[in-house]
Amino acid sequence: MRSKILIALLLVAVLVLTGCRHRNEPVADPAQEPQGEIAAKPSAGEPQPGEEPEEPLLPMMETSLSDYPLSTPTDDILVLVNKTHPVTRDYVADDLVTVEHCDQSVGNKDTKKMRKVAADAIEELIAGAKEDGFDIVMRTGYRSYDYQDYLFSSYAANYGEAEANTYSARPGQSEHQTGWCCDVGRPGYGLTSFDGTKEADWIAENCWKYGFILRYPADKTDITGYIYESWHIRYVGKDAAQYIYENGLTLEEYLGILD
Ligand code: DAL
Ligand code: ZN
Repeated sequence: MRSKILIALLLVAVLVLTGCRHRNEPVADPAQEPQGEIAAKPSAGEPQPGEEPEEPLLPMMETSLSDYPLSTPTDDILVLVNKTHPVTRDYVADDLVTVEHCDQSVGNKDTKKMRKVAADAIEELIAGAKEDGFDIVMRTGYRSYDYQDYLFSSYAANYGEAEANTYSARPGQSEHQTGWCCDVGRPGYGLTSFDGTKEADWIAENCWKYGFILRYPADKTDITGYIYESWHIRYVGKDAAQYIYENGLTLEEYLGILD
């Protein structure tokens, strides 16, 4: 009789423990996966490298922090923000304004903003492209430290931190936080499908006229630390942009900051 009671107690203990374990495990619910942009997604349920989830749904996770000290950037138009020159969590430029010609299906109300000078310049670029027969929209401008954390965490959770960091900046290391840059694209199409399009060619050949540079060129990944991004342009002003374009430089090379 005693042994039967013992067995029954053991069974109850096993059932209780199994139940607890299930409650603590992450729920594999596709609805909780960050949703990329349908047009460019070869498979559902995972964010594609470089694509921005519409709403970051995963909780932030503990990603490895930078070895480099965070600093508050100056308001300088040529401020360098990269893997070795990160910015503080609380840095927000004080003149962010909403860009009118932006893709409404991406990001949130803040990501439609850029610094005033850069916002005016991107509107001019979009109008210039239109005159040349190309439809281009601004997709993502400013991203807060926390928003970047959500993005990077989403990619890292799916692809691992090292791979994620070849196309997505860790929080504090994205120049999107400065408000001086943006991702552009074709209306209604995903980000990564921009590569190789005539619109991408137009951007590469003409963005300098409006004060922008292609920030992550294909042949400079060892300097920038990121793969080629045909869509990511950075406002540096017309003189610097022309010089950088004509001499095939990165911002790091132009500034002479390669550490
Ligand atoms: N995709 C660029 C590197 C960023 O995340 O800022
Ligand atoms: Zn970008």
